[in-house]
Amino acid sequence: MHGLVTVSYLAAIVLFILALGGLSHQETARRGNYYGILGMGMALLATIIGVVTRNHWILILGMVAGGVVGLGLARKVKMTQMPELVAILHSLVGLAAVLVGFAAFLDPDASAHFEGAEKTIHDVEIYLGILIGAVTLSGSVVAFGKLSGRVGGKPLMLPARHWLNLGLLVLALWFGRMFLAQAAEGGGTGPLVLMTVIALLFGIHMVMAIGGADMPVVVSMLNSYSGWAAAATGFMLSNDLLIVVGALVGSSGAILSYIMCRAMNRKFLAVIAGGFGGGSGKGAATGVAGEAVAVSAEETANLLAAAKEVMIVPGYGMAVAQAQHVVFELVKTLRDQGVKVRFGIHPVAGRMPGHMNVLLAEAKVPYDIVFEMDEINDDFPAVDVSVVIGANDIVNPSAQEDADSPIAGMPVLEVWKGRKTIVLKRSMATGYAGVDNPLFYKENTRMLFGDARESLEGVLKSLK
Ligand code: TAP
Repeated sequence: MHGLVTVSYLAAIVLFILALGGLSHQETARRGNYYGILGMGMALLATIIGVVTRNHWILILGMVAGGVVGLGLARKVKMTQMPELVAILHSLVGLAAVLVGFAAFLDPDASAHFEGAEKTIHDVEIYLGILIGAVTLSGSVVAFGKLSGRVGGKPLMLPARHWLNLGLLVLALWFGRMFLAQAAEGGGTGPLVLMTVIALLFGIHMVMAIGGADMPVVVSMLNSYSGWAAAATGFMLSNDLLIVVGALVGSSGAILSYIMCRAMNRKFLAVIAGGFGGGSGKGAATGVAGEAVAVSAEETANLLAAAKEVMIVPGYGMAVAQAQHVVFELVKTLRDQGVKVRFGIHPVAGRMPGHMNVLLAEAKVPYDIVFEMDEINDDFPAVDVSVVIGANDIVNPSAQEDADSPIAGMPVLEVWKGRKTIVLKRSMATGYAGVDNPLFYKENTRMLFGDARESLEGVLKSLK
């Protein structure tokens, strides 16, 4: 039986790696998901049949209850609420690591066969597993609160907060030493519980100090932590599959955090240290002057019909308006009339990584006309009409032009370099980062006010 479990675990690991590979391209993402589901199915089956020796009914009951809750949530959640769901799911991984850690510590059978150095290593695994798990747990709950608007988005800037963090770290190390000494004698509950409280406080403080605009980085960082927490649990339970899968999640989360930091011109350590992204940078964005010129759906249709090259830049507002299907209708109509249409996608457009790609894929927009920012940013001077659909921060020139802007240095799609830009939004309101956008006042910009879907339906009607 042991051999069968090992083979199943190996197969599951290969499937998880294939899943990650698949998820890196839109064309293969669906296949990647199937690999992941298959891998997880195999891993669960091998664990239930080959590893668990008793209490099968409790296990199955737990799985059914968890499955029903998970299915219900996944069905109900809107695409724009996905980051919240992901954050709260990470908190469960953290909670599991804490509970497994305490169970491994309190169960006399679990560590009975460890002696000497092995026992010390086992105790270190328990301590680290609970530490990472507790930080992940409380940090993810606060992240969920911030993303769902239950906790204020402004960063909490306690005086001497870096010293506070350092103090908590030193305390955690101190209690770690105490725990190892006491655990060798059969004790250690006191320092373990105190460290758990410290780790929970650290998680809360770390995420409270991070501003709204940096929350996506934090969610993917917590994703990484949840992976390391799972890997630590794997070490505690001597389960190779959990170690490997935890490491895969941990490292892919870290890579995603890095990519997102680059896209927002943030330094990873600065994000973790907190205080960024509250939309309250060094000063208010300057240079916003002039008058915005409104345009009608009919005029927009005329501009588009006369264009040779059109670039569509979707943002969060397209998701709110659920305009992706009518966007594709418009694309098809324009292409039928001989207009070249492409999409320019910013890496942090919307509210989660890949948000726009998912919506466009749902509307069946062909992948070969959808381009990443880096691939397309130099092409704007040749574009006749750029259509910005519910995007704001990702097309804000003050990121480049105003060193005092809170989003200074963030790479943006340079739509204003095209011949004409049409911005679809409902009002002159700011976007996620709360920064005014000089693009709206540029001489070659026109504002098409209204809900993006309704506006596009109007444009489409005039075009046909
Ligand atoms: P935003 O800067 O948030 O701008 C979206 C714009 O859409 C708003 O200004 C809003 O203006 C407009 N809008 C909302 N509903 C609309 C509707 N029904 N019809 C038409 N327009 C509508 O979005 P963005 O440009 O996509 O930038 C994303 C921002 O979110 C960045 O700051 C990014 O850092 C942050 N963020 C990203 C992520 C990830 S990973 N993608 C996660 C969290 C946060 P009106 O109110 O005037 O209509």
